[in-house]
Amino acid sequence: MYKEINLDKIDIHAGSPTEEPARQYYFMAKCREWVREFEKKAGRRPCFFIQTFGCQMNARDSEKLTGILKEIGFAEGADEASDFVLYNTCTVRENANLRVYGRLGHLNGLKKKNPGMLIALCGCMMQEPEVVEKIQKSYRFVDLVFGTHNIFKLAELLYRRIEEKGPVIDVWEGTDAIVEELPARRKYPFKSGVNIMFGCNNFCSYCIVPYVRGRERSRSPEDIIKEIRGLVADGVVEVMLLGQNVNSYGKTFKEPMSFAWLLREVEKIEGLERIRFMTSHPKDLSDELIEVMKQSKKICRHLHLPLQSGSTRILQKMNRKYTKEQYLALVDRLRAAIPDIALTTDLIVGFPGETEEDFLETLDAVRRVRYDSAFTFLYSRRTGTVAAKMEEQVPEEIMKERFDRLLKEVQEAAGEAILRDLHTVQKALVEEVDTHESGYLTGRLSGNTVVHFPGDPSLVGSIVEVSLDEAKGFYYIGTMVTAGAGLAEG
Ligand code: SAH
Ligand code: SF4
Ligand code: F3S
Repeated sequence: MYKEINLDKIDIHAGSPTEEPARQYYFMAKCREWVREFEKKAGRRPCFFIQTFGCQMNARDSEKLTGILKEIGFAEGADEASDFVLYNTCTVRENANLRVYGRLGHLNGLKKKNPGMLIALCGCMMQEPEVVEKIQKSYRFVDLVFGTHNIFKLAELLYRRIEEKGPVIDVWEGTDAIVEELPARRKYPFKSGVNIMFGCNNFCSYCIVPYVRGRERSRSPEDIIKEIRGLVADGVVEVMLLGQNVNSYGKTFKEPMSFAWLLREVEKIEGLERIRFMTSHPKDLSDELIEVMKQSKKICRHLHLPLQSGSTRILQKMNRKYTKEQYLALVDRLRAAIPDIALTTDLIVGFPGETEEDFLETLDAVRRVRYDSAFTFLYSRRTGTVAAKMEEQVPEEIMKERFDRLLKEVQEAAGEAILRDLHTVQKALVEEVDTHESGYLTGRLSGNTVVHFPGDPSLVGSIVEVSLDEAKGFYYIGTMVTAGAGLAEG
């Protein structure tokens, strides 16, 4: 494991190794020298600040970037007034990009005050050539640009930037490589995301992710299990298995294996209490998986199952490969097998050509499924995707009007769903001290709903039993029954 590597024992005057991850440890050691020089001159260590946009994938990537920077010797800064600022960007919708450009102006102002400051951009947005062009032309104060495929190279790129004293840009079009055994620093000591696969092959017609994250590739089960064992030994009780479409895990292996099989293996890991995963594509959700979830003591009673649209006609144009009826039948099978399962979803309004009738189908699906919660999005036209070229883009006023109606429906369903568990006792993983109510803690239930209850901060990270006394829209207020640390989910 990476923890055994002592950077000070690496000979930084020898040539750089070619194989990974040895090469990156070599550059971490070189950067550490630079950090020590900095400290001598400034009387303090340089600090870094990472701002993460987008999904859980990016959040996990940022933990890896943090791991590398801490290994090098950087201190963690509180905000953008730091020596090294890194934006890990998202480009799934236009407004994600606009937020980054907006904040870059602010960074430029900070850099004028601290000319030694280094600014880096990485992540999904950087995989788009137009974006990199724009940065080179109009945001010349940016020091370092890299993409989604080479985040493991942060130390090497940073060292190059320090040596070359000019901007460094390194964006890969794609990769087959998965570099293992690099450091990562978790945001929470007791829970962690774990990548099980990278990329996406589905090419839903609206979506840019396959273009910026590349082709689907699964990590080997041995590497995944080894990582989770290491995490558990380090205090983790809950893992979230991450992939754009976890249900197609292992399909590209020489000897294909299923996600359901992987889950069974993860379940066996002693000391691990809870398993979550994201995201499931409805087209690939097998009966075997439903069975594994039903039998499991550790898999949380929650499934995020993006519907996107309730209209079969639109689903076909979206290239989702299921019909409304197939989706509803899947929900029925899930609920028949696991009656207490919480279902959440993603919905897009205003996909090109969406008519009022199509939209009513979406409202109808929401009414029928009664989701515990749903993320609703206005369709955003992404250059390079198939849908961007479709005629009949829906006018903005109509999109917004439908969005408001959908939101109302989703909130109604959520308001009802939360009553299901009211006045029951449930296990909650205590995630943090409540930020709103003093003396309270915030815990997460198996179904992913949050509960606030009075308790001692020392309980953060443990699983306790909470009576759900009051439902407040999307969360509960409760009281603790016992502090049953170490109990597996029932
Ligand atoms: N792989 C996941 C989701 C990745 S993106 C899945 O298949 O479900 C997260 C969500 O963003 C998607 O589910 C979709 O609802 C939304 N999304 C993606 N592209 C979008 C676009 N162009 N406009 C609006 N929403 C979009
Ligand atoms: Fe995008 Fe579809 Fe892949 Fe999800 S499955 S990342 S929505 S292309
Ligand atoms: Fe955004 Fe990239 Fe995730 S585009 S949603 S950060 S995979």
